Amino acid sequence: MMWFNKMIASILPHMPKRLVWIFSKRYIAGQTIDDAVRVSKQLNAEGYMVTIDLLGEFITELHEAEKNRDQYLNIIDTIQKNQIDGNYSLKPSMFGLLLDEEACYRNIREIVAKAVSYNNFVRIDMEDSSCVDREIKLFRRLKEEFPKNVGLVLQAYMRRTLDDLKNLSELNSKDNPLNFRLCKGIYVEPEEIAYKDYDEINRHYLEDLEFILKNGMYPGIATHDIPLIEGAYRLLEKYKVPKDRYEFQMLYGVTPGLRKSIIEKGHRLRVYVPFGEDWFPYSTRRLKENPKVASDIMKALFIRG
Ligand code: FDA
Repeated sequence: MMWFNKMIASILPHMPKRLVWIFSKRYIAGQTIDDAVRVSKQLNAEGYMVTIDLLGEFITELHEAEKNRDQYLNIIDTIQKNQIDGNYSLKPSMFGLLLDEEACYRNIREIVAKAVSYNNFVRIDMEDSSCVDREIKLFRRLKEEFPKNVGLVLQAYMRRTLDDLKNLSELNSKDNPLNFRLCKGIYVEPEEIAYKDYDEINRHYLEDLEFILKNGMYPGIATHDIPLIEGAYRLLEKYKVPKDRYEFQMLYGVTPGLRKSIIEKGHRLRVYVPFGEDWFPYSTRRLKENPKVASDIMKALFIRG
């Protein structure tokens, strides 16, 4: 069945959007800010924090960046007005990272400044390897100006990540700890720069997490993988990390039962809530990760056919 899942995954981007939407709905709050507010309120009521993400990436024209920036500025006002317990995540390629680094910086700086006006926080998502150096540079610059209000994502599958952590640790301080979301990494990268093997990625994930905890940095432990969550529990215990010095993070629509079991143990957990019209690339990535996707698609075709 493995080859079949792989085949389905590779043709997903070419399938009719309407079919892909049937499976994507579970991963996306909806297409509008009202959807994001509704879903976030529900998650808050269940005891989860959220991080709000407007879908979109890799623009080709700089004027799109300004439109995206203005949308984020409005989103922040709306989310704050609704008293959501949440912060913001964004993808720099949506603000022109690969077109004009300086313009991208200015756009994102404005968004961070807006979040800061509400004493809130913006996380810079990590994209594919063409973006990593630029995203770290962007983070360094923003962290200098807004030491409490920006964080970065690091990907355990990248061979460079522990070195990046070591290099960035010069910015860490007790008052303003570095704040990293640690995930495995989702993009398809060449073997020369990224680990490919499940066990190898997991070993490096826990090594990176240990470095973060040992050095008093703040991790967003972003995974749905049970061995990693158990590994994280062990490390949190080993370093006696107070409950407010870390959080778990999961994607909307993925492993809700596991998510619940984590907060029932008294840990904090933040759900990543993506929304927007530009849902297609995000959804196809999620669907490729989901080993059940092929059989789900088969079932839907069968029911509909
Ligand atoms: P793994 O892929 O091994 O999955 C473990 C288990 O989780 C699976 O066996 C399955 O049960 C379940 N599962 C995972 N994905 C599923 C799905 N789509 N549907 C149903 N079940 C699923 N990546 C990146 O490169 N840059 C980024 O900025 C981010 N940001 C980010 C934020 C947050 C909050 C999370 C949780 C993840 C990311 N990621 C990311 C994605 C991340 O890199 C990774 O691809 C996914 O989290 C899947 O990896 P896991 O650690 O869950 O393990």
